[in-house]
Amino acid sequence: MMLKVGYYQFRPAFGRINQNVSKVIKALATVDADLIVLPELPFSGYYFQGREELKTLAEDPADSPTVDSLINLCREKDMHIVTGFAEKKHEKIFNSSLLLGPTGLIHTYRKLHLFSEEKNCFDPGDIPLQVDEVRGAKVGMMVCFDWIFPEVTRSLAVLGADIVCHPSNLVLSFCQQTMLSRCLENTIFAITANRFGSDKRPHGELRFTGKSQVVAPKGVLLHRAPSQKTTLHVCEIDPALARKKQITALNDIMTDRRPEFYQPLVSG
Ligand code: ACM
Repeated sequence: MMLKVGYYQFRPAFGRINQNVSKVIKALATVDADLIVLPELPFSGYYFQGREELKTLAEDPADSPTVDSLINLCREKDMHIVTGFAEKKHEKIFNSSLLLGPTGLIHTYRKLHLFSEEKNCFDPGDIPLQVDEVRGAKVGMMVCFDWIFPEVTRSLAVLGADIVCHPSNLVLSFCQQTMLSRCLENTIFAITANRFGSDKRPHGELRFTGKSQVVAPKGVLLHRAPSQKTTLHVCEIDPALARKKQITALNDIMTDRRPEFYQPLVSG
């Protein structure tokens, strides 16, 4: 079954949760899609002065007007949303990604690999990687800097992911090109939803690189947004293409693996 998938690239305003939520809801109100991916931390902003400031902007998804309004949108439009989220859970705060749909919150992924000063603010992810079904497709999630650890996309692919949803706030320039290889070596689709603009804060400024993209198996770039422009993009994909792991008549990239020789990866 074909799936309409895409992303919304925009410029969140730091700390303005309501304003950012309204912007997203307005942008998605007219979209016709099965699955839309939003950037990392699209409601809180990214460049926190420290954990105390983050604490004032993080929310528990079980008690969050932001999540409630996104779930309502999913119900109205019969669609799914993957979104970055500053997740407060008891005393911990995670840089998370939520899979939301008409039935509510389906799964929470907590960023495993914290980037730079995120380490001063967030707790590292503590939930195993998982894939979930969206309209017959298997969907996995990772967040931004996870891209540089090929173990993440590989694990999701081994779990059966057809599509990796990748909310991002990229500040370096290497990810977009690298994701072509991640998709080729795993024969998967990937949707990287990046933000643009900057978080100009008292302790410094971070600029984000945009260029959100959708990549198909075999490393084919289906679409890439401009660097600094609001972009809502939807395209039709066939998730079944991600199930064809045969790369030559005699090679299947999943069954040809030799995990018994990969011990250093899990013991290192
Ligand atoms: C990043 O992980 N936000 C670079």
